Parts: sequence; C-alpha cells; structure tokens
Amino acid sequence: MSPVALMLGLKTLWVLAFSSLSNTLAVNNSGRWWGIINVASSTNLLTDSKNVQLVLDPSLQLLSRKQRKLIRQNPGILHSISSGLQSAIKECKWQFRNRRWNCPTMPGPNIFGKIVNRGCRETAFIFAITSAGVTHSVARSCSEGSIESCTCDYRRRGPGGPDWHWGGCSDNVDFGRVFGREFVDSNEKGRDLRFLMNLHNNEAGRLTVFTEMRQECKCHGMSGSCTVKTCWMRLPTFRTVGDFLKDRFDGASRVIYGNKGSNRASRVELHHLEPENPAHKPPSPHDLVYFEKSPNFCTYSGKTGTAGTAGRSCNSSSPALDGCELLCCGRGYRTRTQQVTERCNCTFHWCCHVSCLNCTNMQVLHECL
Ligand SMILES: *[C@@H]1O[C@H](CO)[C@@H](O)[C@H](O)[C@H]1NC(C)=O
Ligand SMILES: *[C@@H]1O[C@H](CO)[C@@H](O)[C@H](O)[C@H]1NC(C)=O
Ligand SMILES: *[C@@H]1O[C@H](CO)[C@@H](O)[C@H](O)[C@H]1NC(C)=O
Ligand SMILES: *[C@@H]1O[C@H](CO)[C@@H](O)[C@H](O)[C@H]1NC(C)=O
Repeated sequence: MSPVALMLGLKTLWVLAFSSLSNTLAVNNSGRWWGIINVASSTNLLTDSKNVQLVLDPSLQLLSRKQRKLIRQNPGILHSISSGLQSAIKECKWQFRNRRWNCPTMPGPNIFGKIVNRGCRETAFIFAITSAGVTHSVARSCSEGSIESCTCDYRRRGPGGPDWHWGGCSDNVDFGRVFGREFVDSNEKGRDLRFLMNLHNNEAGRLTVFTEMRQECKCHGMSGSCTVKTCWMRLPTFRTVGDFLKDRFDGASRVIYGNKGSNRASRVELHHLEPENPAHKPPSPHDLVYFEKSPNFCTYSGKTGTAGTAGRSCNSSSPALDGCELLCCGRGYRTRTQQVTERCNCTFHWCCHVSCLNCTNMQVLHECL
C-alpha cells in the first residue's frame, strides 16, 4: 500500500472517531471488548473476513458497532487484537505473580471480574496493559503483513546519519496507536472521573509502547566492515512494556476530578485530572492514575470480586510481598511436602533421540491458610 493510501486510511479512522462522538449513550461498557479473547480459538472465523461470520460469533456481540466496523475495515486485525490481549493477560499475571492480587482472570465475557468497575491501581494496570497489548500486536502485525490495511512504516526511508540510512521494515507503531485509540477507547464515553481515568491509562499504555521503540541496524560493506548501515525502528519486547507499566503502577498518581473550565468539544479531557494532593505534580501522560484505594485482597469477597489469598503458595524466607507473612495477611500458612517427578539425566542417542530418566524429588511447599 502506498504511503498516500496509508494516510487516507488513518484519516478515515479519525473521521470515524469524530462522527461517533454524537453517539453518547451512557452505558457502562468499559472493557467489554476484552470478551473477544474467546474468539481466538475459532480459527476459521479469524481467517474469514466475511461480515456475516463476524456478526454471528457471540463474542463479537460484545463489541460496539463502531468496533465491529473497524474490524471489517481492517481484515486480519481481529486475530492481532486477540493475540495482543493474550500477551497482555500473560504479562499481567507474570508481573503480579508474587502479590496478593495476582491478576486473576475468569471464563466468560468479563475476564478480569469486578475489579474493572473500581478505580484502583490494579484497575489502572489492567487498562494500560491491555491497551498496550493491542497497540503492540497491531504494530507488529502490520510489519509482518498480516493486516490488509497496513504495512511496515515506510516513512523512515532515505538518509539518516553520516554512515547509516533508514531502510528495512519498521514496526508500524503509529498505526497501532491510532487504531488502539479508535478501537479500545471507543467504549469509554462518559465524562466522569472513571472514564477519564480509563482513557488516561489506555493512552499511557500506548505511549509506553511508542516511547520504548528502538533503532535496530544491520551492517553492509566489505567483509562485515560496516561502512554502511541500514536502520529501522523496532518495537520493545512486551516484557519491557510490562516492566515499565509495573513501575508506573508502583508510582501511580491518585487523582480527583478537576473542574477548571469544561470544554465540551474536546475529546479527551485529560486536563480534568488533578492530583488529589495539591502538593504533588500533575500526572504526566506516562503515569498511571487511580482515584480509589485498593481493597486488601486478603480474603474472599463476592461483593468486590476478590478471591483472597487462601491456598496461595508463599515463600517462608522472604520478607517481601511474596513472603508468607505478607501474602497470607498474617493468617499463617501450612507446610506440606510434595513429590515432584522431573525428567533428568537426559542423554542424546545418535541419531536422533533423547532419553531421560524420571527423577523424583521432595519439594517443600508453603500455602496460606
Ligand atoms: C458499571 O460500573 C459500576 C461502577 O460505576 C458498577 O457498580 C456496576 O456493577 C457496573 N455494571 C456492570 C454491568 O458491570
Ligand atoms: C524465597 O525468598 C528468598 C529470600 O528473598 C529467596 O532467596 C528465594 O530464592 C525465594 N525462593 C523461591 C522459591 O522463590
Ligand atoms: C543422574 O546422574 C548423576 C551424575 O551425573 C547421578 O549422580 C545420579 O544418580 C543420576 N540419577 C539417576 C536417577 O540415575
Ligand atoms: C517417566 O514417566 C513417564 C510418565 O510420567 C513415562 O511415560 C516414562 O516411561 C517414564 N520414563 C522412565 C525412563 O521411566
């Protein structure tokens, strides 16, 4: 696709954004699109871009009309969104594996549970990481050629520096960001603190992907002399994105709804978020924001949807959050030994198979009461 066509594509997305502004149904739709995680398994649907199929899949009924339209207009993108969401969930679970809240997910359309209706740090992280997941995955899919409406970012072409030039295939993070804004943010239509918070955190996720892009180069020249280099922009690994957002989680800003001059025409009224403590700096676009204290996540509560930490395994020698004292919230823990069988003493036989022994070891486990 030519750059001009690409620009027109982006322009169409923007026009869509503004035309949908009139549609301000105040429905609580935050994060409904996460439900499409369930379409990942139906491969025939993913390869078939016929509208009829898309409409029939129950998971896709969770999407707004605008979101379904965006999927129809960008064949191949549904698979990319869904795999971005899966990376985000995996990363969330990894980043929080040692904490009381360990990013639990559940079957059904509301995969993160009731925590998404709150306004605490964990909520902020979920919105940021899933939004980053979409931007990251779509940007990569563009450069891999698996979305029909986008390509590598070819604007980085031609002279770069004295001994290198732009070339190759840059990951299309701009397309990923614009698409993410249209697709992910389109559920957030209110004007209250919760919606502002979600929009801010969605954008912080996308921004992290964008600012962690790195230049990669390849040498050319006589016998690897590197007289000329070709360079392109490469996405960060998703672990890098997760690490950054986890840092932002730890330093998240508590905000309130600021009321200086409401401008109803502007789309994202980020300037309406103010630090709760007037002595603090206003949150930057990179920061995660929240407005409500987190529950302690210690015990089961159907009301807040927290599972509690009973049964979680803990580390008896760690003074940190994964230690039994903190993880079990002072309730104590039980210790049991468990037989684990592992493959061991593997030997390679020419040619070609590997045979292993089964080794049985005893493992000591601590579990919260
Ligand atoms: C919508 O959000 C509110 C919090 O503002 C929450 O109490 C309610 O349960 C949510 N509704 C649904 C259907 O998730
Ligand atoms: C438990 O915590 C200690 C101290 O922080 C650490 O050295 C050890 O590797 C941890 N064990 C496991 C299984 O994570
Ligand atoms: C595996 O090999 C080690 C030495 O390499 C030996 O000490 C051990 O007994 C072996 N394990 C089994 C189950 O044979
Ligand atoms: C190891 O255990 C697996 C099943 O757990 C079994 O299929 C395999 O035959 C065992 N191997 C040996 C060498 O005993």
